[in-house]
Amino acid sequence: MVKQSDVIVIGAGAAGMMCAAQLGAKGYKVRLIDHAHKLAEKIRISGGGRCNFTNIGATWENYVSKNPRFARYALNEYTPQDFLSLLKSYGVTWHEKHRGQFFCDESSEVIIHVLFQECQKGKVKWHMPCSVLSVQQYNEGFILDTSEGLFQASHLVIATGGMAAPAIKSTDFGLGIARQFGLKVIEPRPALVPLIFDGEEWATYRELAGISLEAHIATGLDKKAVSFIEDILFTHKGLSGPGILQISSYWDGHSPLYLNLCPDKDLAKVLTEQKQGSKQQLLTVLSHYLPKRLAEHFLQQQGLKETFNWAEVPDKQLRQLALAIQSWQIQPKGTAGYKKAEAMRGGVDTAELNQKTMESKKVPQLYFIGEVVDITGWLGGYNFQWAWSSAVACARGI
Ligand code: FDA
Repeated sequence: MVKQSDVIVIGAGAAGMMCAAQLGAKGYKVRLIDHAHKLAEKIRISGGGRCNFTNIGATWENYVSKNPRFARYALNEYTPQDFLSLLKSYGVTWHEKHRGQFFCDESSEVIIHVLFQECQKGKVKWHMPCSVLSVQQYNEGFILDTSEGLFQASHLVIATGGMAAPAIKSTDFGLGIARQFGLKVIEPRPALVPLIFDGEEWATYRELAGISLEAHIATGLDKKAVSFIEDILFTHKGLSGPGILQISSYWDGHSPLYLNLCPDKDLAKVLTEQKQGSKQQLLTVLSHYLPKRLAEHFLQQQGLKETFNWAEVPDKQLRQLALAIQSWQIQPKGTAGYKKAEAMRGGVDTAELNQKTMESKKVPQLYFIGEVVDITGWLGGYNFQWAWSSAVACARGI
């Protein structure tokens, strides 16, 4: 027997649950299918277990995409304030961290609880774990062959997310469906991901593992420089930390990175103009501006002894030292891959979708929401905001 409904949503993650709940509230008969055993694992592990569920300043400019402006309508349709109102109605409390990032006071579980309850209110029918074996267009809708039999619905919403964190059942299912129906897919790549470097080249930096500092990081994409000022972290294999995760989403796979490890000072000026009469060692001075181990590294690299008296080092060498620290150019070998990534870049080409409803322009009544779409947020709550906003825009459009 074929099980009928108005809408089938595949993927019970952030976007899928939000969309199903909203559709249920409109009175639609909705089925929500997910192949995982545990509900919304990505929400659970996010934000170190406290889910950075939005960024209060989210605008389309915080997204990486072939056409980031595509996100504008949905982000205006359902804003961070709207999500806060939903949480408030459940008595959920939160706090703001760095730069507009909102986290739960308790655990990420509360976000899952809110979305689950909203789905219950909308009488959403759960099918979990349930595998989708095939999707076909049928009359005015879609027919799905699943591990629970045949399902039919007039509308189909794909909310299966991206490929980051494969250990928790992330897949490229949504991209496969897009391709099956002839929709263009922008090549997917790991985003918000640590960068790794050539082993031999990195050997001299390996001893710096564990050092964290604020840096200005830039890279060129389509010849346009993109930059962030954020913390970076030296690791045994390369660089990580928020600044590197941010720039990784823009890294084109072959360009170098440009780092200024002392972004708020003109180091050449400080080192050359203030040395007169000083009795301090060069290492002591440099350690005011860099972590000591990093300062030692750069002195060694420049052939300068730590015991050198600052006042006696020629200006030319001090300028070279400053240049090495403030214009450090390095060539990543690659990313640490989907296993370590927090998001996927690329996805269903936004040119294929209606900006107001997320509906496919080629295949009426087929929708794509959340991370499966070529809209990738910066680090800091932007990806969840996109999940909520695109889900609500879609539900309102159906
Ligand atoms: P999501 O991944 O949430 O849901 C997709 C669902 O589809 C899953 O339940 C999956 O099981 C299901 N599915 C996949 N393939 C299927 C198939 N073939 N059949 C049936 N079901 C299938 N973002 C943010 O804004 N703040 C944060 O703090 C974090 N932190 C964070 C930490 C880590 C470790 C990761 C990996 C990611 C984050 N993110 C984040 C990113 C954020 O989690 C992500 O962008 C959203 O969860 C995307 O929501 P979606 O609903 O699109 O996919």
